[in-house]
Amino acid sequence: MSTLAFVVGTRPEIIKMAPVIRECEKQSIDDLIIHTGQHYSYDMDKIFFEELELRDADYALRVGSGTDAEQTGRILVGVERALIKEQPDVVLVEGDTNSVFASAFAATKLHVEVGHVEAGLRSYDRFMPEEINRVLTDHISDFLFAPTAKAEATLLSEGIPKNKISVTGNTIVDAVRQNLKLAQKRASILEELDIDKRTYFLTTAHRRENVDNKARLSGILKGLKALHDEFDAPIIFPMHPRTKNRVAKFDLALDGVISTPPIGFLEFLLLEANAKLIITDSGGVQEEACTLKVPCITVRDNTERPETVAVHSNLVVGTDADQIVTGARAMLNKPRNWDNPFGNGDSGQRIVAVLKSAFEACGVDL
Ligand code: UD1
Ligand code: UDP
Repeated sequence: MSTLAFVVGTRPEIIKMAPVIRECEKQSIDDLIIHTGQHYSYDMDKIFFEELELRDADYALRVGSGTDAEQTGRILVGVERALIKEQPDVVLVEGDTNSVFASAFAATKLHVEVGHVEAGLRSYDRFMPEEINRVLTDHISDFLFAPTAKAEATLLSEGIPKNKISVTGNTIVDAVRQNLKLAQKRASILEELDIDKRTYFLTTAHRRENVDNKARLSGILKGLKALHDEFDAPIIFPMHPRTKNRVAKFDLALDGVISTPPIGFLEFLLLEANAKLIITDSGGVQEEACTLKVPCITVRDNTERPETVAVHSNLVVGTDADQIVTGARAMLNKPRNWDNPFGNGDSGQRIVAVLKSAFEACGVDL
């Protein structure tokens, strides 16, 4: 019988949960990994298990793609089955995807305690599926691992009791620190793409509200072309499958952009660390840019990572091509001397320490 169950489902959950899983292994804690299968292509899933040296999941639910209701429903049923069989004391989820909310919901209905890693983030934009998942997950969780004091303050303002919240930093900093040297040793992506350090821009875009909307997606692509023309810089764009599908469906041109399939974490980390500028709508990439001291512009109308804007590592510019260029000019001229608001890379240890002491107090040895 396992006492702690991790649930992961998508690329960022695997990357950000890995430091916590690693810490449990180090401390010989009896744990279980449940993979919902929300992401399933090799380059969105298995590659991260390999690169981060994670053992295979104990349960592979293979829910796959679908509408929100289909995906959420399949995860609920699958996770419930696994939890009834395994009876863990606590389930840990990370982030804001359908896998996160559905797993937390299944657990709480079975009276299994839920720990939410990366709690308290808010974009205040209910149009985003992630915002709904975050709010609901926070309000049914027993342990809220807030990355920053700001996230803690948000949770308190929503009436969540202080004794449920721990400020732990963000596990993305652990992931960056644990893997950057390895990336520098092992990855050869710059040579493969034939680009030099600090001469290129790196971009990602996959948010539903951006890429499923033809006007917003074409605004981003026009912005990238304009950046390429103004700065004469290669624009590297590892493309999420959702985005690839939409570019084809909307019949949009990829002018001035070097597009690749999604790439492994070590390769991506190396590309981020050596970029001149990062252009993204990803949550994790905004944090990584901030951690790696690479300027970032966010092609969205808001961010649930306002800490990055507050330290001036990131600018929220929307999806209009002119605004993208103006934002890029502004960020390229800023000094890269900000402090990292997301902690110093010991979040995995802190999260495990909180859980251990809470369970010890109830006579359960994790
Ligand atoms: C999901 C999360 C989003 C997160 C992102 C991380 C929700 C609502 N969205 O978005 O918060 O930022 O993951 O990348 O939970 N596809 C593949 N292979 C895969 C997975 C998906 O080809 O392994 C394609 C399918 O056509 C699928 C589409 O990508 O329909 C979207 O996948 P889905 O998991 O529904 O949402 P994401 O956009 O990946
Ligand atoms: N990432 C990666 N390869 C890529 C693009 C991103 O390994 O081609 C990593 C990136 O380093 C970050 C995470 O994926 O840790 C972010 O995932 P994504 O942007 O899909 O989701 P979000 O963070 O927006 O939820």
